[in-house]
This record gives sequence, C-alpha cells and structure tokens, in this order.
Amino acid sequence: MKSKVLVALVGMLIAVATNSYAEESGVSFPQGYRSWLHVKSMVIQPGHSLENPFQGIHHVYANDKAATGLKTGTYADGSVLVLDLLNYAEKDKTIQEGERKLVGVMHKDSAKYSATGGWGFEGFAGNSQTERLVKDGGKSCFGCHAPEKGKDYVFSALRD
Ligand code: HEC
Repeated sequence: MKSKVLVALVGMLIAVATNSYAEESGVSFPQGYRSWLHVKSMVIQPGHSLENPFQGIHHVYANDKAATGLKTGTYADGSVLVLDLLNYAEKDKTIQEGERKLVGVMHKDSAKYSATGGWGFEGFAGNSQTERLVKDGGKSCFGCHAPEKGKDYVFSALRD
C-alpha cells in the first residue's frame, strides 16, 4: 500500500516537473540582440532539408561571451547565440528581407541545461517576445546540434 502511494506521488512529481519544463525553458528573449556581433547570414530556399521551420534568410548574432566562445571553441555560462529568421522576397533582381518568422535562441547554462549539452534552446514566434515555440525542453533542437559536439554544439563559425 505504502509503495503504491509512493509510486503515485513520484509519478505526479515527474508529471509536474516535465510539464513545467515543457512550458517554460527559462530562456529569456534576447533583448537588443541586433546590436550584438553579427556572425553570419544564410538563405535557406524551399526544398532544403531545414525548410521547416528555417526557410528564409537568417542572421546569427552572438553576445560578448558567445563571441569569445566562437574564438576559443568553448562557451562560458551566460553565452547567448541568436538565429534571427526572416522571410525574404525577390524584387527587381534583389532579395529583400521581409517579416520576422522566428527568433531562435541558445543560452549557455551548464548546470541548468545539462540534458541538452549545457544549452537552453528556445524559439520566439514572429515578433513576439513571449510566444514560445519549444515544447520538448529543447530535445529536438539539441538532437540536430549534437553532431557539433566538438564545437560545443554550435554550427556557426567566425569569418576570417
Ligand atoms: C535539423 C537541424 C536543426 C534543428 C532541428 C535545429 N537547428 Fe539550430 N542550427 C542548425 C544549423 C545547420 C545551424 C547553422 C546555420 C548557419 O550556419 O547559418 C543552426 C544554427 C543555430 C543557431 C546559431 C548558433 C549555431 O549553432 O550556429 C541557433 C541559436 C539555433 N540554431 C537555435 C536552434 C533552436 C532554438 C532550435 C530548436 C527550435 C534549433 N536550432 C533546431 C540546425 C538545426
């Protein structure tokens, strides 16, 4: 009897813990990121394997700690990287930026996010600073970043 109660209790605790984690990664919106170091840009066209959800033009930004990490290959807690994804449109033989699609964020906190390589992953929809896109604690984001282990799970590199 006692053990049944214990099992039920532990189950409830796990449910509460996973639920709150699924709703709230704890990664905050990266205020002012557009004035951070601009690392690189890329256009992802329809048909690319990253099309959903990354089709568009994106710019990658790094705060000061992440900028140091890009040079050394390891990132101190507090490092933040941003993938700023916008729609684009072809116009008069140019490709021009359109509306913001999402803001992807990686926030380094080795203890808090030990399950996902020490990085908290979050996405903010469109121009929203509160509508969060990551519902699985960052597992699927991390799954794709995992092969970059040698670079602390970061794909981007500084240009020469
Ligand atoms: C299917 C693979 C894949 C998934 C899933 C994925 N990413 Fe990435 N991510 C990439 C690639 C590839 C780059 C490098 C883009 C470039 O070179 O411009 C990248 C770059 C980034 C960057 C810039 C830092 C870096 O590593 O270069 C951030 C921030 C980021 N992703 C956040 C996220 C978040 C948040 C999620 C989950 C919502 C996510 N990613 C899911 C493949 C993925």
